[in-house]
Amino acid sequence: MNRKSLFLYCTLLLSLQVWAQTDTLKLPLIPRPAEINVSAGSFKIGLNTHILADPKLLNESKYLRNFILANHQIPLLNLTKASNLIVLRINKSLDKNKESYRISSSAKQIIIEASEPNGIFYGIQTLIQLFPDPKNKASAITIPLVQIADKPNYTWRGMHLDCSRHFFTTAFIKKYLDMMAYYKMNTFHWHLTDDQGWRIEIKKYPKLTEVGAWRNGSMIGHYRDQKFDSIKYGGFYTQDEAKEIVAYAQKLHIDVVPEIEMPGHALAALAAYPEFSCSKQATQVGMRWGVETNVFCPTEETFTFLNHVLNEVMEIFPSKYVHIGGDEVPKEEWEKSAFCQKLMADNKLKDAHELQSYFIRRIEKMVNQKGKIIIGWDEILEGGLAPNALVMSWRGTEGGIAAAKMGHDVVMTPGSHCYFDHYQGTPANEPLAIGGLTTLEKVYSYNPTPASLSQQEAKHILGAQGNVWTEYIATPEQVEYMMMPRMAALAETVWTPENLKDYPDFFMRWQLQIPYLEFKKINFSKTSLQSK
Ligand code: ACM
Repeated sequence: MNRKSLFLYCTLLLSLQVWAQTDTLKLPLIPRPAEINVSAGSFKIGLNTHILADPKLLNESKYLRNFILANHQIPLLNLTKASNLIVLRINKSLDKNKESYRISSSAKQIIIEASEPNGIFYGIQTLIQLFPDPKNKASAITIPLVQIADKPNYTWRGMHLDCSRHFFTTAFIKKYLDMMAYYKMNTFHWHLTDDQGWRIEIKKYPKLTEVGAWRNGSMIGHYRDQKFDSIKYGGFYTQDEAKEIVAYAQKLHIDVVPEIEMPGHALAALAAYPEFSCSKQATQVGMRWGVETNVFCPTEETFTFLNHVLNEVMEIFPSKYVHIGGDEVPKEEWEKSAFCQKLMADNKLKDAHELQSYFIRRIEKMVNQKGKIIIGWDEILEGGLAPNALVMSWRGTEGGIAAAKMGHDVVMTPGSHCYFDHYQGTPANEPLAIGGLTTLEKVYSYNPTPASLSQQEAKHILGAQGNVWTEYIATPEQVEYMMMPRMAALAETVWTPENLKDYPDFFMRWQLQIPYLEFKKINFSKTSLQSK
């Protein structure tokens, strides 16, 4: 090849590459992979296809086999003479990011490679998103040939679910995790305690669930109407059930982070054990939504109680994180309490914010002693941030920015873009919700890294998370309606490189996924279909 044709050849290659990166991706893939090329031809998965997997990838190959059987009724057997192969292979020479993966395919074989099982699992998620509509029964699954090199933009790709305001069965939690996995989300933040219900069995304190898991009624309609029913409502997860969820999530490469709220949002615990409040007076599990003034009192007895509770929680959940809440803590009870006033004077704490900081630091020590890290909502910055805490920024992004500048890790979950309890369309046309308006496009537009951070500070932004608070969400169907497709938009926000994000393209891919969601009976929001 002479120099001129070499130059032309290189220019052609370069423009093909640019084309591949920017062209509309007419495949039902969300999140959009970092690099993808589609070639002519197809691969057919049928009775003569064999999955050839490294022994370390038993879980992943089983997942793929089960998916194919459950959704497409094709049983893949261990064949010695297969007509084509799906190869799942650990390749340590690939990208060290444990979640990155590669797919190369021809009509004869699809190879999914990664340095760790996590990446293989995400390669499988990409592969199954390419499968045709499972409702059209066929003897083979025909998929386009793709060459992919992919990795996530952020390490924390989270979804939260409030199981206190309303209780959801373990069967539904598993479905929730399945939906997360399909979009490569990797962290489930399980909100287990709040004013309106304590939902996790603690063996040392049985009244937490005997008393704290049940309320005598719930709000009906909107908060401003102040109407209640008188139906006893509740439920809780036994430790065995919680462990079952952890094990299920592990197979999907999802970390389960429990949240045990303190010092506020603790009314259910105080209904069971009023001795840990400042007034020590009997109270009831909350029936109304909102913020309660009755909070944990920072006595030694309270800290001992919380230490025991957290020790049991840390035994159940292998995550390196424990979320301890820290949000919305009214200080009235502490201001009124002679004990708190003396504690503040003795410890030279100048106000109740510093007392809250004292509380969180005491808790942080207990958690750090077990080799784990606390997470708190951004109020834990007030009065001084605990030394090793991760901050979840919800009242906007300012708390997250401040924490990152102080060298703390941060997960962004601002109400404006990440609260999936907000309306997603015109409120008059939507089921009752808490308020706000967070459209699909708004979620999609979110960039978790604030422009005001330096490159070094930006490294502390681990990612973002969608929060599903359930004051106004009483059923699994309504959870699905509120999370889908907003979770899909968030998934692309936290996975796909910012320069490849394109809302119309995402929206088109979302529509291509609808047959699968219908097949899985996921009650996604139809409003989203109007929100181009
Ligand atoms: C919160 O929404 N109160 C964290």
